[in-house]
Amino acid sequence: KTHPIRRICCIGAGYVGGPTMAMIAKQCPDIDVRVVDINEHRIAQWNSDTLPIYEPGLTEIVQQCRGKNLTFTTAVEESIRNADMVFISVNTPTKTFGVGAGRAANLEFVEKCARQIADVSEGHKIVVEKSTLPVRTAEAVKRILSNSNNNATFDVLSNPEFLAEGTAIEDLLDPDRVLIGGESPDAIQALVDVYARWVPRERLLTTNLWSSELSKLTANAFLAQRVSSINAISALCEATEADVDEVAAAIGSDSRIGPKFLKASVGFGGSCFQKDILNLVYLCEYFGLPEVAEYWEQVVKMNDFQKKRFVTRMVRTMFNTVSDKKIAIWGFAFKKDTNDTRESASIYVCRDLLLEKARLCIYDPRVGEQQIRQELEYVFAEADGELSDSKRRLIHDHVTVAVSCEEAAEQAHAVALLTEWDEFAKLDFAKVLDSMKKPAFLFDGRNKLKNLDLAKKGFEYYGIGF
Ligand code: NAD
Ligand code: UGA
Repeated sequence: KTHPIRRICCIGAGYVGGPTMAMIAKQCPDIDVRVVDINEHRIAQWNSDTLPIYEPGLTEIVQQCRGKNLTFTTAVEESIRNADMVFISVNTPTKTFGVGAGRAANLEFVEKCARQIADVSEGHKIVVEKSTLPVRTAEAVKRILSNSNNNATFDVLSNPEFLAEGTAIEDLLDPDRVLIGGESPDAIQALVDVYARWVPRERLLTTNLWSSELSKLTANAFLAQRVSSINAISALCEATEADVDEVAAAIGSDSRIGPKFLKASVGFGGSCFQKDILNLVYLCEYFGLPEVAEYWEQVVKMNDFQKKRFVTRMVRTMFNTVSDKKIAIWGFAFKKDTNDTRESASIYVCRDLLLEKARLCIYDPRVGEQQIRQELEYVFAEADGELSDSKRRLIHDHVTVAVSCEEAAEQAHAVALLTEWDEFAKLDFAKVLDSMKKPAFLFDGRNKLKNLDLAKKGFEYYGIGF
């Protein structure tokens, strides 16, 4: 029989581990929560005044609990050994090598965690998969754990995380549901009892392990599919004088479709949508279902098309050349209210504009120069296998980073708005217009400025899907 949980260890102090454990610590003052990571710098940041991730409301919670029942530490083994429940919340990126490269999830880090738990544990522990994992990973985790050094015993649960970045704290405080998959009723109950401190019982869903694992990939696939679907329609809107926002509102008011996640954009980004769909595609192929694989792969292909289409439209509109033109890039994060740039549409738009030899001046309120340059170097290196001298020079000579929207737009031929930061809609556009070359093109990849009548105020204004 499992006793109430007193000590939790979470392996992985990332975008998921940090905020989720901070929320558990806040809601359960009697549970000691330790978040561990092998990345010393990251742990030092969690212990400083400037947390490694920007997330509204997070700093307050961390400050409230840190030093009481919330600890960030690199003492991985000791923290595992002392815990009743161990969350695995490490990264599961797309494999870049070997079998399944470009599609399958790289489970190296998850497996290393399982082996380490098996090595250092004593007695009984509940191991919780928090990372997003391919269906049936728990089978491998259980087998690894069954070879414990000290005859420790384990229950394995799947508890995928559904928070979205930028709203992580809201999502954790008031989740639509918490999903817990497992075999042992006692272990499931122990985790239910943790969440039940603040989440209404009816929102705590319990399933078998495999349904839980698969629901996470499926949820992300459905969400991304909605974005690709409305983006596909946005292309048709541009060809037919329909307006994608009107179409979205019209279809979204059908309660069977619903209004959320129908915002046409320059393309979805973020560390998970593409990775998780590609993982789903790989799994379908692995289980001999090529038609199902192909169906889901279209969601990613449509997203790539949307990013390319945006650049093509810019180049065509600007008299078929952007070479040596200054283009202001407003926004580099993959969505507003986060400093996360992983798979941001902005990276791909910048890459393609650089290949057209445009001069980019980039501004994002939360992303610094070093991170921007690193992402651009990475995307060029990815394409060619390694970063060539010519691409390094291209980035060096053609990219500058500004400290404000206004600075970026100064003397620019065009602005490309790529992240929907609220501050972008609050600018003095008369001043921006004044400082730009004419015609002053503004390409709005988020339809953020659509209601400001910028066309009437002298801009050549283009959005998505109208
Ligand atoms: P992340 O890269 O921000 O953090 C993962 C952390 O794990 C890193 O700091 C890394 O150093 C650490 N780590 C890796 N191996 C380790 C080991 N053996 N021991 C100790 N620490 C180790 O990743 P993330 O964004 O937090 O995502 C984690 C998982 O959650 C992924 O599977 C992801 O798909 C899933 N997920 C992410 C989000 C999101 O919004 N980012 C939302 C839901 C689910
Ligand atoms: C997404 C899911 O929403 C979370 O439920 C999930 O936990 C998470 O992935 C994950 O597994 O990592 P996240 O990627 O943080 O969360 O952010 P979203 O709000 O889903 O946005 C993803 C991308 O889609 C962003 O680039 C966003 O701008 C874009 N998007 C979203 C649109 O273009 N249109 C929309 O209508 C919605």
